[in-house]
Amino acid sequence: MNISVESFTKDDSLKIREKSVDVKLPLSNEDSKLLMDMFKYVKDSKDEQLAKKYNLRAAVGLAAVQIGVNKKLLAIDFDVDYDEFDNPISVSYALANAKIVSASAKKTYLAGGEACLSVDIAHQGYIYRSHRIKVKAFDLLTNKDVLIKASGYEAIVLQHEIDHFNGVLFYDHINKINPFQEVSDAIKID
Ligand code: NI
Repeated sequence: MNISVESFTKDDSLKIREKSVDVKLPLSNEDSKLLMDMFKYVKDSKDEQLAKKYNLRAAVGLAAVQIGVNKKLLAIDFDVDYDEFDNPISVSYALANAKIVSASAKKTYLAGGEACLSVDIAHQGYIYRSHRIKVKAFDLLTNKDVLIKASGYEAIVLQHEIDHFNGVLFYDHINKINPFQEVSDAIKID
């Protein structure tokens, strides 16, 4: 499947609110290919030349339901740092059946709010998520069952994508009366 900006299920469709189901492990060829295509999209979307050539909108994560497949598959890729040779160090996952197994009471949020490939309109406001989480999944990139311990931005991205499995969108979490309500002790990420 060639994924481009035209591929995305948007929030004006009921499909995006559908719940996703577990996939069978080991992954079928079809599910593996879909998951790798999703990962490739997320990775390539941040390359300016590829994004222009293939009509990609930049993303750090993607859940399968966003391309119309309600299976628990998600892809994440973003750079966190550079190594001594100036090569980017990235957080990269292609996960099947990702499930949050623990979440801290301590919250974190992005100062600039969140965005989503399925949402075309900006929604202003803070989205408070657990600062630390543990996620169990099968990771196709390493071909292993993994227990991911994530915090801060990585934890936010994982929670955003796993929310898609339940048909939840980021703006559902924004306080309708006071979108920028402060939560004491929450860690702000700029
Ligand atoms: Ni999203």
